[in-house]
Amino acid sequence: MNLKGRNFLKLLDYTSEEIEYLIDLAADLKAKKKAGIPHKLHEGKNVALIFEKTSTRTRCAFEVAARDLGMGVTYLDPTGSQIGKKESIADTARVLGRMYDGIEYRGFGQTIVEELAKYAGVPVWNGLTDEFHPTQILADFLTIREHFGKLKGINFVYMGDARFNMGNSLMVGCAKMGLNFTACAPAKYFPDQKLIDECESIAKQTGATLRFESNVATAVKNADVIYTDIWVSMGEPVEIWQERIDDLGPYQVNSNVMSIAGDNAVFMHCLPSYHDLNTVVGREMGEKFGRDSMEVTNDVFESAQSIVFDEAENRMHTIKAVMAATL
Ligand code: CP
Ligand code: NVA
Repeated sequence: MNLKGRNFLKLLDYTSEEIEYLIDLAADLKAKKKAGIPHKLHEGKNVALIFEKTSTRTRCAFEVAARDLGMGVTYLDPTGSQIGKKESIADTARVLGRMYDGIEYRGFGQTIVEELAKYAGVPVWNGLTDEFHPTQILADFLTIREHFGKLKGINFVYMGDARFNMGNSLMVGCAKMGLNFTACAPAKYFPDQKLIDECESIAKQTGATLRFESNVATAVKNADVIYTDIWVSMGEPVEIWQERIDDLGPYQVNSNVMSIAGDNAVFMHCLPSYHDLNTVVGREMGEKFGRDSMEVTNDVFESAQSIVFDEAENRMHTIKAVMAATL
C-alpha cells in the first residue's frame, strides 16, 4: 500500500482497503510506542498545523505524533497568523508548501481545506471542517476494533446532530468499513440526501447498512456502539442552544438509552463533552437552561461502558499513521 504524497481530506477519497491499512498502521505504531521502540520514520521533516478553530486533542495528537516521527512542528493558532485576514488560502498554501513537508488544517468550510491542498504541493490533512472530521473516525474505528475485535457488522448508532462533521464522517466511515449505521435524531438533523445516496452506493459494495430513525428505543435496540457529539458545534451561534435543547433533548444518551442497548454496548464521544457543570460553558448553560448535562449524562460518561478516553488516546496513534503513510 503506497499512500505517499496523498492528502487526507475526507474518507470518501479513500478506499476501504486504504482505510484499513491506516488503522493497521496505527495499531502497529501504537504497539511500538507502548514497547518503547523508536519510530522516527520522518526524521528531519517539518509540519505546519493551522487551527482556525480551537482544539485540545487534534492539536496535541498532531504535535506528539510529529515529534515521535522525528519531525519539527509549527502551530498556527486561530488569531496569530495572516491566514484569511491578510493572506488568501491559496497564497498561504504556496508559502507553507515551500517550507513544510505537510500541513494540517482545522477550520470552517471543506472547500477551504480542499483549496489549501490544491495549492500546497505537499500533503494536507483535514483536522476538522464543518463537513468532515476524518482523523477522528480513524481513531473511533481503531477503538471499536480494539474493543470488539472487528468492524464489519458492528451496530453503530449516532445520536444527535447527524448533519454536521461527526454525523457525516461517521456515516461515510461506516459505509466504507461495513458497519451498520443508524442516525437517531429528528428528521431535520439527518445528513444531506446527496451524501446519504453516495454512502448507500458504497454500502452496497461493503455490506454496510444505513438507517435513519427518530424513535430512540427502536434505534438503540441491539446497538454495539452508542455515539454522540455536542449539540452546538464550533462556529455555530450560541443563540441556537435553545432550539437544539428542544430538538435534541429527547436524544440525550442517558442510562435509559444504555439499558435498552444492553450491557455489552459501549459509549463513545469525540469530545469535548457537556456532561457536567465543570466547564465555563457547561455552567453557563446549566444556569441558563436548568440542566446539569447536555448530550450525555454524567453517569453514562463516567460508566464502565464509556470508552471515551481510549478513543481520545487513539487520536494520536491514528494521526501518526496518516502522517507516516502520506509523507
Ligand atoms: N475530538 C476533537 O477533535 O477534539 P479537539 O476539538 O479537542 O481537537
Ligand atoms: N461537532 C463538533 C466536533 C468537535 C470535535 C464541532 O465541530 O465542534
